[in-house]
Amino acid sequence: MSVYRDVWEHSIGDPESFWGEAAKQIDWYREPTVVLDRTKDPIFKWFSDGEMNTCFNALDRHVANGLGESTALIYDSPVSQSKATYSYRELLDQVARFAGVLRDLGVQKGDRVVIYMPMIPQAVVAMLACARLGAVHSVVFGGFAAHELALRIEDAKPKVVVTASCGIEVNRVIEYKPLIDAALEESAHKPSHCVVFQRPEVSAGMMQGRDIDWAGAMQSAEPAPCVPLNATDPLYILYTSGTTGRPKGVVRDNGGHAVALRWSMTNIYDTNAGEVFWAASDVGWVVGHSYIVYAPLLAGATTVMYEGKPVGTPDAGAYWRVIAEYGVKTLFTAPTGFRAIKREDPQGRLLDKYDLSSLRYLFLAGERLDPETYSWASSLLGVPVIDHWWQTETGWPIAANHMGLDPMPAKPGSPTVPVAGFDVRIFDETGEQVSPGAEGLIMIRTPLPPGCMSEVWGDKDKFYDAYLSHTPGYYLTGDGGHFDDDGYLFVMGRVDDVINVAGHRLSTGEIEEILAAHPDVAECAVIGVSDELKGQVPRGLVVLKAGVTRANDEISEELVKRVRDQLGAVVSLRRVDVIGALPKTRSGKVLRKNMRSIADGIDIPVPSTIDNPAILEDLRAVLESQ
Ligand code: COA
Ligand code: AMP
Repeated sequence: MSVYRDVWEHSIGDPESFWGEAAKQIDWYREPTVVLDRTKDPIFKWFSDGEMNTCFNALDRHVANGLGESTALIYDSPVSQSKATYSYRELLDQVARFAGVLRDLGVQKGDRVVIYMPMIPQAVVAMLACARLGAVHSVVFGGFAAHELALRIEDAKPKVVVTASCGIEVNRVIEYKPLIDAALEESAHKPSHCVVFQRPEVSAGMMQGRDIDWAGAMQSAEPAPCVPLNATDPLYILYTSGTTGRPKGVVRDNGGHAVALRWSMTNIYDTNAGEVFWAASDVGWVVGHSYIVYAPLLAGATTVMYEGKPVGTPDAGAYWRVIAEYGVKTLFTAPTGFRAIKREDPQGRLLDKYDLSSLRYLFLAGERLDPETYSWASSLLGVPVIDHWWQTETGWPIAANHMGLDPMPAKPGSPTVPVAGFDVRIFDETGEQVSPGAEGLIMIRTPLPPGCMSEVWGDKDKFYDAYLSHTPGYYLTGDGGHFDDDGYLFVMGRVDDVINVAGHRLSTGEIEEILAAHPDVAECAVIGVSDELKGQVPRGLVVLKAGVTRANDEISEELVKRVRDQLGAVVSLRRVDVIGALPKTRSGKVLRKNMRSIADGIDIPVPSTIDNPAILEDLRAVLESQ
């Protein structure tokens, strides 16, 4: 039997002993005696009587163990032309001090703190400072607009918001403070304070009494110690797009999260203390939470925080420069980044300028890795390219090649095999499990392993209703796919209304809500269509109210702008078409699945209940036009 099979079967057959053993890699104030609490099945809890602190495990214990002078974090920012390096001791000092700032502002265990920051070290400091106090952080991606930020503030009800004066994109500086002010104006919940880190590029206007200057507060703050927490206490809330118009707050606990991420660093990513790990993502996404911040630091490794793009900062050799400059062993990013590099430098000529001998692995996730990008990256870099599949909800990979345990031959198009702890099954639409080769809904048998979501913030039934009620005993992933005869999993895409744009997860429902609110729109649909660079991009289709006489182009432009202003530029909605009617069944259900398949050039059966088949044909003409 392969090592992998053996380990996986142990993790599924006896999760208590498997994860009990893994938990020894974490320092506990009180060791857990209950590894898996099954008393509230189907909601399971890990290490329920254990006490620990995630920040202690990420920083203090390394300093105590003699790793204080090792590099914890490297900041590289081509957009602001700055670089910085923090040892574990320096990072601990900043984090303890900022925890002191938050404590002085009244933040205590269980309070929420919203962090709206660009890719600067202060974002990591703020996250770890919350973890230190047991406050629950909720990081909001800087590419979201004020309205999205307001929705999250209203839901999380933070005591404090932490921000910076600006974010920097390739072609522009984005002032954050006006966005924060607008979000706080819109939100019914008003945090008592807003801490602002002033970057040299922009000086943010401050509201007296409410707004606190980061640098000034840090000068006078006393460092705060770690607060012992129950393993099941929440570490963070991360909002993600679901099938409805409202983002869901995925809650992650402390103990299970630390155990799972620590295990993954050695066994999946094969990266340990003293080695350099670079997740080229953003702290606003789950990849950033897990693999820019927590996992590398839990392992005592060096994490790279890169404020730039794969292309344009300044060229398609940017990733190679960073790898060479810092001796990166493991790079983790989204396939889109590599498609962008390939588009600008198809022969990989810029690679010749750099020494990439430190690089051992390229891990890709966030969207389906198309075989062409896989082959291009593999032959260019000459290192294993590992497709792995995961979700905000799981927080770490569900399927991967375990490079530190038992590397397996890759199959292009497959994220390899289920990760230890994940019992992945495929079901058809009637609820029957299917054999290898047959396509279906991907489910995970419960209990999910440690590190996965524990609840949806503010809605105690939602976790069950949205994920666990579909098939009793199983977690619904929302993705479709199949196993092959060798047990390799193939993930083919979402079966719901979630789309992935440049590795960013978005809900078509949320975009539809904005289009539908336009006074001239009677009804609308948004679908994800294939895009060579971004994997998918949204396309809007609207039916106008009777009697509207304004030019279609003018209305389309307004709609595109509304989505950009309310959701954010990152949505990348470039096109909204005005059509005569939406294709529907006789009972009025919009045939989104058929619309999606037309857009992707795939033929699927048209339901016999269709109301007017001609509409689908009209739509084909619209969707096939560029
Ligand atoms: N703050 C403000 N605006 C942001 C932003 C942020 N943090 N991130 C992106 N945006 C804006 C961009 O400036 C762009 O605006 P524009 O329409 O005015 O040009 C828009 O949102 C779309 O951004 P992006 O998706 O980054 O597309 P792009 O065309 O600028 O760049 C890539 C394309 C491929 C270079 C880019 O998507 C990329 O670097 N991908 C790497 C993958 C990745 O990091 N995925 C994260 C999940 S792992
Ligand atoms: P997010 O929650 O933003 O991480 O997005 C999760 C979704 O991204 C999954 O449900 C998948 O649809 C998609 N995804 C992530 N990684 C992969 C992968 N390796 N292959 C296919 N789809 C992926």
